[in-house]
Amino acid sequence: MKKEYNYPEGYSLLQTTLKTNEFLKHPIDFINKSMAQFGDTYTATVGANKLILTKNPDFINHILRTNHRSYMRSDITAKRGAQFFGKGLLFSNGEYWLKQRRLIQPAFHRNKIKGLYSNIQQTIEHYLVDFPTGENIDIYPIMHDLSFRVLIKSLFDIELSKEVMAELNQIFEELSIFLMKDVNMPLRKLFYPFTGEERRHLKKGKRLRAIIRNIINERKSSTGEFHDILDMLIHSKYEDTGEFMTEEQLIDEVQILISAGHETTGNTLSWLLYNLASNPIKQQKLRDAIDNSSIDEVMENDYLKACINESMRLFTTSWTSERVAVVDDSFESYSYPKGTVVVPFFFGAHRDEKLWEDALTFKPERFMEDKKLAKSKKYFPFGAGPRMCIGNSFALAEISYFLFSFFKSFTIQTTTSSPTLMPLLTLRPDQVVLEIERR
Ligand code: HEM
Repeated sequence: MKKEYNYPEGYSLLQTTLKTNEFLKHPIDFINKSMAQFGDTYTATVGANKLILTKNPDFINHILRTNHRSYMRSDITAKRGAQFFGKGLLFSNGEYWLKQRRLIQPAFHRNKIKGLYSNIQQTIEHYLVDFPTGENIDIYPIMHDLSFRVLIKSLFDIELSKEVMAELNQIFEELSIFLMKDVNMPLRKLFYPFTGEERRHLKKGKRLRAIIRNIINERKSSTGEFHDILDMLIHSKYEDTGEFMTEEQLIDEVQILISAGHETTGNTLSWLLYNLASNPIKQQKLRDAIDNSSIDEVMENDYLKACINESMRLFTTSWTSERVAVVDDSFESYSYPKGTVVVPFFFGAHRDEKLWEDALTFKPERFMEDKKLAKSKKYFPFGAGPRMCIGNSFALAEISYFLFSFFKSFTIQTTTSSPTLMPLLTLRPDQVVLEIERR
């Protein structure tokens, strides 16, 4: 007999199909609207599959943390992503993922990241020397470029030529946009044989591999000493066999680190500057906190940390993710079969008035008043559970050093209304136009 499941209320196949365009036009508005109609959790029907979307923190913790063994990243993103960016941490699953995570995790431990602080700091200071000032400056491409440089310099402690940097940046951008459209609009695949789009992007993926391979090979044949992430990865050994990663594995992981690390950080920095520009009193408070401390204390600056936490709450760069159930599972009164995709809507959880007072207001003080809030089970800026962001200490160091150095030298104001949300693979602002002055 066919087993009965108790899915959350939601859209039938016909309704989901009819609403696809509305969803694609603005996924965040659409999900919010659907949650206003059905509640914190609802079902959409895509082909033969059901998709459960939720902003309920308990359900999110269920799939990412408490019952994570019953879930993995779905093939829709993992297999497809791996075709373009390689089978690194973000796009692997099961035993292989665990083996790689165990190997790579120590390189991202806070104490190891400390060894990169001076490198991060120098790249930022250098970048700020010629930082543009004046009215109407769109900060988004600048923050994107800065985060790319900081990550590349921390991965490979060498000067890459302008041409290689530009090519790398462009390939990552183009592949991310292609992948986002490919995952969200399955019907596009039907046209690939005619448009040649897939072939062109696979070729770009190969070019990317070739560039990274060159950098790794040059490094392996060099006799110099390097203090960077690549060095740690090259020398990491698997616990059981004592072997190093193969060249292909190294390329996979390096590509994933760049891909997962630069756009997320660039977006987070852009949203932070937007929040501080549109809240002059908070900006002044941050400046006071910075002026009264030294750069060595930057990672312990409470108000600075609170500003970062609050901005990541209000504008959650990793606005969503996905997991697929590998066995039948249930949560509270819901039950669903293996193969069901569950989508945690972090953005919605972070703006839920039931969970956050004045949820739509930028109020860093909330993280000062409650020191445990940043670690609470309703806050997911870096995800949760064993697949939580491996680069979170690195990202926080970069953002903290940037804020410290930037506000020592500059003041900012907003010049236009709030940026439009662009929910791509990560949540981007369309543009963040600021007036920037040197102090
Ligand atoms: C503010 C910046 C960042 C944000 C908001 C962010 C957010 C996230 C989130 C939410 C996840 C979990 C996704 C999920 O569970 O499905 C994740 C995973 C990951 N992040 Fe980040 N991230 C940031 C910066 C970085 C940096 C700088 C790096 C590397 C240098 C990095 C590397 C990764 C990797 C490799 C994963 C996959 C981990 C795994 O599956 O084991 N991220 N990130």
